[in-house]
Amino acid sequence: MEAACRRCRSSIRLALVTLAAAALLMAAAAVAALSDAEASDIARRQMLSLRERNGELPNDFEFDIHVDVTFANEHLRRAYAALQAWRRAIYSDPKNFTGGWVGADVCSYFGVTCTQALDDPKITVVAGVDLNGGDIAGYLPAELGLMSDLAFFHINSNRFCGIIPKSFNRLALLHELDVSNNRFVGAFPDVVLQIPVLKYLDIRFNDFDGALPPQLFEKDLDAIFVNSNRFVGSIPDNFGNSTATVVVLANNAFIGCIPRSIGRMADTLDELVLLNNRLDGCIPPEITDLGNTTVVDVSGNALAGTLPEGLVNMTKLEQLDVSRNQLAGAVLERVCKLPTLVNFSFAHNFFSVEPAACVPSEDKPVVLDDSGNCLGSGRPEQKPSPVCAPVLAHPVDCRTNVCSAGPNPPRPTYTPSPKRQMPSPPKTMHVVSRGIMEPHNHHQFLQASNAGAGWMKPRAGTPRSAEER
Ligand SMILES: *[C@@H]1O[C@H](CO)[C@@H](O)[C@H](O)[C@H]1NC(C)=O
Ligand SMILES: *[C@@H]1O[C@H](CO)[C@@H](O)[C@H](O)[C@H]1NC(C)=O
Ligand SMILES: *[C@@H]1O[C@H](CO)[C@@H](O)[C@H](O)[C@H]1NC(C)=O
Ligand SMILES: *[C@@H]1O[C@H](CO)[C@@H](O)[C@H](O)[C@H]1NC(C)=O
Ligand SMILES: *[C@@H]1O[C@H](CO)[C@@H](O)[C@H](O)[C@H]1NC(C)=O
Repeated sequence: MEAACRRCRSSIRLALVTLAAAALLMAAAAVAALSDAEASDIARRQMLSLRERNGELPNDFEFDIHVDVTFANEHLRRAYAALQAWRRAIYSDPKNFTGGWVGADVCSYFGVTCTQALDDPKITVVAGVDLNGGDIAGYLPAELGLMSDLAFFHINSNRFCGIIPKSFNRLALLHELDVSNNRFVGAFPDVVLQIPVLKYLDIRFNDFDGALPPQLFEKDLDAIFVNSNRFVGSIPDNFGNSTATVVVLANNAFIGCIPRSIGRMADTLDELVLLNNRLDGCIPPEITDLGNTTVVDVSGNALAGTLPEGLVNMTKLEQLDVSRNQLAGAVLERVCKLPTLVNFSFAHNFFSVEPAACVPSEDKPVVLDDSGNCLGSGRPEQKPSPVCAPVLAHPVDCRTNVCSAGPNPPRPTYTPSPKRQMPSPPKTMHVVSRGIMEPHNHHQFLQASNAGAGWMKPRAGTPRSAEER
């Protein structure tokens, strides 16, 4: 904590007394990633602050407010207490987002949005917080649960450490939670499952670990982004109970089968992104029930067997990526001719039969990639036959195939320790701007993400809810 604090104080002092050039230098230094020790120190500070109340807020929670400050209503008084507690939990704010967070007029604070209360148009309340891209280091204090009027909470691309406090279960109106691209740790934050009206859950690019709780797929969410953490275990069997339109589990360490319940998502699922995990077994035939899904990416796993014939029924597919698995047999002609398909990669598998419709060609409306397979000398960049022969000699029978996953490991309990090794967060320069297509509402964002691999990158903007205007 000392290091982080010192840096924060000295950066403010310096910037106040020096010329622009010096301030710039200082800012450049402050933007450097937190060291593991600093992240761990901040997390420990949070633990100390949360321990008193076990991270929860008692209903009669009292807070200190300077007697001179008066508020238009009780909601704003509570928001003030929350924002001041948060400000005290911030150790570095290189862009000075919170420098003006003083005084009773919380609606004038940078990043704070106020509107009329839903249940009482005569009073003004804090409906949202957006500190995206602030590069702020600190933690989330339990007092944030006092902001019970929040509809959105967006803090992506900062350096917040520790956990999501249990008191977030008091955010009864919260629709959008975006804590992506920070340094959050520990088990999946179960508290988000208790936020009653949450629709958009984005915890990607953090250091969460352990297994996913099955309840995640029982919750009435529109979007689930948990990619680029360190989640393990198998995907819960009730996966298909989810009503989300976008589900991104990419870049974790999930094992076992793609759950057969997946077909139950047919009415709602638009994009399914499971790439770069350790999933095995055959692609379940039930996936082909997803008749309205436009993006399926299961690349970079250990899937075996043949492509399910039913893929030809996925008539809305635009992007299909099964590359970098151990699939074999024939690529299906009718899949390559699906009406809206624009990109189909089956590269780096063991496919040995390729119909003419699937051969990559500039003349085709579909981008196809067949490299790294067992298609023989007629196609460039194929695997050598000694690599292909043993796999082709022992085809996997998907009718009897079983996957490898056993029971999930116990969920981790997190205790910060300075010795804990945490990987560096994605570098700031990877924050490729989605700002160009800065969406104005949720649905536009979800459609925009069809355009490609946008969900793979932390982004500068978050979908704007209708409430936010
Ligand atoms: C931060 O912002 C506050 C309020 O806008 C301002 O008074 C202060 O000088 C700023 N600090 C720096 C270091 O720019
Ligand atoms: C998933 O949905 C099915 C059918 O609606 C239901 O029987 C089952 O209990 C659900 N799973 C869980 C874990 O709640
Ligand atoms: C696709 O969506 C339409 C309309 O939204 C719906 O009627 C249909 O049942 C869906 N198809 C599948 C396979 O769920
Ligand atoms: C495609 O869907 C139809 C209608 O549900 C079904 O009869 C047919 O068997 C499916 N095709 C394949 C190849 O599974
Ligand atoms: C097609 O998909 C692959 C893999 O998903 C991707 O790397 C490539 O950029 C895509 N190409 C086009 C033209 O969209």
